[in-house]
Amino acid sequence: MKRRIGILTAGGDCPGLNAAIRGVARASYIAFDAEIVAIRGGYKGLIEGDFKEMKKGQFSNILTVGGTILGTARTPFKEMRVVGDDLVDKVYEMRKNYKKLKLDCLVTLGGNGTHKTANLLSEEGLNIIGLPKTIDNDIYGTDVTFGFHTAVDTATDIIDRLHTTAASHNRVMVVEIMGNKAGWLTLYAGLAGGADAILIPEIPYDIEEVVKVVEMRASMGKNFTIVAVAEGAIDKEEAQMRRKDMEDKRKEEGVDFVCQRVARDLAQLTGSECRYVIPGHILRGGSPSAYDRILSTLFGTYAAKLIAEENYGVTVALKNNQITANKLSDIAGVPKAVELDHHILKTAKAMGISFGD
Ligand code: F6P
Repeated sequence: MKRRIGILTAGGDCPGLNAAIRGVARASYIAFDAEIVAIRGGYKGLIEGDFKEMKKGQFSNILTVGGTILGTARTPFKEMRVVGDDLVDKVYEMRKNYKKLKLDCLVTLGGNGTHKTANLLSEEGLNIIGLPKTIDNDIYGTDVTFGFHTAVDTATDIIDRLHTTAASHNRVMVVEIMGNKAGWLTLYAGLAGGADAILIPEIPYDIEEVVKVVEMRASMGKNFTIVAVAEGAIDKEEAQMRRKDMEDKRKEEGVDFVCQRVARDLAQLTGSECRYVIPGHILRGGSPSAYDRILSTLFGTYAAKLIAEENYGVTVALKNNQITANKLSDIAGVPKAVELDHHILKTAKAMGISFGD
């Protein structure tokens, strides 16, 4: 059985993408007569016809390599059906290039935006298989995405390092961790790194509650505090505001990052010396952890099995420790925020970690 497979990575990169690409390729070459076409730079490459026929050997030596050998780009889902000034009908071009390449299917590795476009293409009649990646872990229907646990390891290492310097200087260290809509990464790394307060988008914070943490620790002779704050964290007042008004208010205050705001307020309200740290894209870089290498390999090889079965319009998932697949139409556009009764959140609370609520 011969199968011609297109493969692309879209959205923000993360560790494990190459391991997953390798998984798809190696298992496909073994399972059937596979021909693989790399689409470069995500959906942009599919729209613009930027592709390359791959040879088996080109999938070697990439298991441990961070980033993506295919390149990636953000092509916002909302604009996929919009014909802009360049007059390019993006959906038409993607369909056209898929046909031109004579693909039997297209494997798309990505996060929420990627899955929305994958579902759109599936509705357009293309044979699509998704693979869920993101350091944010916010894809519905899978217990975990690849890239997440490597980022947890990296963020935890950063918090560990901040601990020693915070303790030496008697400082409050506020570390901002990626995650605009979901606080999974901040929650896990905060718990693993022993943060004293964890602020996530799902739980609007009251700065006075964080002040209490700093003061309570000081009263116990612990003159340093670690606050892990997610990129998308908001306070209780902001939670009542429209997004635009909130952004304008922050701009007026000269706040570009939430960690600046938290550090500034804690300095004012506690008199402590405060510093903030933004690891930013460092969290997305580097070699995948052993866990992510295995998860990516499991997801990739499962995608090859789905191709062999011609089971399209789905994305691979891990549910209760079993690799399985969800229909794209069931998961595309569905957010996966931290549930307030999630066991990790409950454990952190039971440990006395403040969520500022
Ligand atoms: O989705 C992954 C992510 O790293 C988010 O945590 C972050 O908000 C965003 O991407 C940053 O995007 P960019 O790389 O486009 O700045």
